[in-house]
Amino acid sequence: MDPQLATDLADLPDLLDATRKFAERALAGLSSRPVAPGPGVVAPEPLPLRGIGLAGALDRFAARWEPGFSGSAGPRYLGFVTGGATPASVAGDWLTSVYDQNAVMDADSSATALERETIGWLRELFGLDSAHSGAFVSGATTSNLVGLAIAREWVGERLGVSVARSGVAALGAVTVLSGSPHSTIYKALSMIGLGRDSVRTVAVLPGREAVDVSALRAALSSLDGRPVIVVGNAGTVNTVDFDDLRAIAALRSEFPFWLHVDAAFGGFAALSPEHAGLLDGLSEADSVCVDLHKWLNVPYDSAVQFSRRRDLQTAVFHNSAPYLGVPTADPDFVHLTPESSRRLRALAAWFSLSAYGVEGHAEIVRRDIALARRLGSKLAGLPGVRVLAPVRLNVVCFTFPGDVSAAARAIAETGETFLTPTVYEGQPALRAAFSNWRTTESDVDRVFETLRKVLAGT
Ligand SMILES: Cc1ncc(COP(=O)(O)O)c(C=O)c1O
Repeated sequence: MDPQLATDLADLPDLLDATRKFAERALAGLSSRPVAPGPGVVAPEPLPLRGIGLAGALDRFAARWEPGFSGSAGPRYLGFVTGGATPASVAGDWLTSVYDQNAVMDADSSATALERETIGWLRELFGLDSAHSGAFVSGATTSNLVGLAIAREWVGERLGVSVARSGVAALGAVTVLSGSPHSTIYKALSMIGLGRDSVRTVAVLPGREAVDVSALRAALSSLDGRPVIVVGNAGTVNTVDFDDLRAIAALRSEFPFWLHVDAAFGGFAALSPEHAGLLDGLSEADSVCVDLHKWLNVPYDSAVQFSRRRDLQTAVFHNSAPYLGVPTADPDFVHLTPESSRRLRALAAWFSLSAYGVEGHAEIVRRDIALARRLGSKLAGLPGVRVLAPVRLNVVCFTFPGDVSAAARAIAETGETFLTPTVYEGQPALRAAFSNWRTTESDVDRVFETLRKVLAGT
């Protein structure tokens, strides 16, 4: 054994303790470190020939890289839609590495059964039923990809071809209809060979991002009964608008389409009694995407995909070989997702759900919604600021006179908070998205003070 590795093995308890203390300091400083220090400049070092051991690596990481890391796990990082990591999910994630299970098949471990239990819990959390089976994937992009790949296979089934066997060329052009699809829908369609141009955006309701169901009906009826894919949106990034999923699903009695719903973070509306109605009809979807590294507050990377057609999913993703076995009616995960070998991502979610239950996670969701409203109403009172949509859930989308990109940079430079710029209805704007378990009212007040000062100066 390499001497450095042998020393680390002998010193493992002390080294783990040192790592724990390092983590403890990092977490204790989360609220006070600069929220977005920027990329910085760290001079590259050559590939080490001889290692410096874990203690040396910790020191080197602390000196060279750690100072530039963002406070994205902390309470005032409001960019994109970014969750933190609950204490239990951090522990679950550490133990995922300790046990280093390959959650690929049932043959040698109970790890895959733990993943199934966690999927069952999540299904219940989001109001789905046993008709939906699921699997963990790396994020909502991959979850969308899996859902759309199954949808593609379904279109093939309707047309009498197997895309999994014959390729997309056998299918001809496929239409994907959606009101306000997330950018990752285009990315997923590019990856699965249907192409970004397969999307036909459908009119949205006036002043909204939710699809106009009568326009969708008209679009479907123009397709002469050809099977298509409809992407329903349950939580758009700019204004967190929700399609009327029940009304969309009802159109399936008239037109043949696969309904995929992107509920990457909007799925968590299910945890707020006041908002759960926004997801009415979700259980009718043929496939559903929900991100977990957003509002479940588990570490990157983690999401879940659900679908009703496990047979088609297996047709797309199966990885059969004599040493891997053939898919059964209840296939191993190796036959269900893009990866073959895969991390036991379920463990972090399992820990957080075990530790805090539905009630604990619902409290995070309800608090974040209340905090978004608090910031929204404070901003609405600032001269010149226009909140561009009602705060439906956890995002405040607003604009002001002046250069939005420059303001976003100036806000980040304060170290106090981080917001991402966007364009909504042709209007440059900023988004503040709340999805962290640590955020409190005093964080919102600090964020507001920062915004007030920066906007006054732009
Ligand atoms: C609605 C929606 N879909 C998909 C995604 C992609 O998620 P990920 O970056 O986890 O792949 C996001 C990310 O913000 C999102 O908000």
